[in-house]
Amino acid sequence: MMNELDATMAKLAERGKGILAADESTPTITKRFEAVGIESTEDSRRAYREMLLTTPNISDFIAGVILYEETLNQKMSNGMLFPEALKKMGILPGIKVDKGLVILPNTKDEQVTQGLDGLGERLAEYRKKGACFAKWRAVYAVSATTPSALAIRANAEGLASYAALCQANGIVPIVEPEVLIDGDHTIERCTEVTESVLHAVFHSLFKHKVKLEHMILKPSMVISGKKCPVKATAEQVGKATVMILKRTVPSAVPTVNFLSGGQSCEEATANLQAMNALSPHLPWNLSFSYARALQDYPMKIWRGDKKNVPAAQKMFYERAKLNSLASQGKYSTSMEKETSIA
Ligand code: 13P
Repeated sequence: MMNELDATMAKLAERGKGILAADESTPTITKRFEAVGIESTEDSRRAYREMLLTTPNISDFIAGVILYEETLNQKMSNGMLFPEALKKMGILPGIKVDKGLVILPNTKDEQVTQGLDGLGERLAEYRKKGACFAKWRAVYAVSATTPSALAIRANAEGLASYAALCQANGIVPIVEPEVLIDGDHTIERCTEVTESVLHAVFHSLFKHKVKLEHMILKPSMVISGKKCPVKATAEQVGKATVMILKRTVPSAVPTVNFLSGGQSCEEATANLQAMNALSPHLPWNLSFSYARALQDYPMKIWRGDKKNVPAAQKMFYERAKLNSLASQGKYSTSMEKETSIA
């Protein structure tokens, strides 16, 4: 079991590589498809994900892909199951295992993540189907009074229980506490909230005896809220995020792969670059596990039409490459000229 977890970690923490989150639930991908005029059917979702994953040489930059359960059971046009096809390309398949969010009673409509019941059995099944790693997402809305101590604790316990179960089943857990970007909060408020959230998450991980060497942290960046009148610069985001990671994340965690959380594609890349530019001596690999910041442009180009596949794949390849460079501190905004379609 240990060797298997070591092998998965070695692959996913490889410098210069990141993770593609392609695990949008059906309602979420339907919303994203509709926004660009694509009909959401079982086959259009399959074709879209096949387009992304068959991008030539994408394994140069992508070490793992998080799938939604529907995709885990689907086949590519060549008849091969998605997990099998990914492994052949040298990419590890992962699986989103949480069952979404519910209101946490006795809070101001804060949310907690569900899905622990029967999770052990589900993990064993997913592993048989080829999944090497998993994802569980907790969210924290920021206001003057939230997240509450109760929401922070309940979500930390959920993340830690999930992570321990994953490791017991030979699966590497991605632990994803997302401090939401929605709202008008300042970067200072986000700094304070993220510190409390990560502190609680690592306390719970310790209590549940989770092996930090065999997990991936997928946090949000420390950033100003979307509606904050003062927008933090990439340098400020990089500095604040690394400061909070240093305070809360033990160096035993091999890799931290950020979510993009509603930042533009270019912002998500520039912010990742700013962190990696800070020091060549950070204890963790700092990379990406983006959904929107990798997919927004290719999805717009594809639009459900086969003839757009090469152009959409070219765009996906470019974004993956730029984020790979950012994860090594080698990206500069001047590289954007040719890729932007905004
Ligand atoms: P975004 O990069 O679009 O935030 O998605 C990452 C993710 O996996 C959310 O759970």
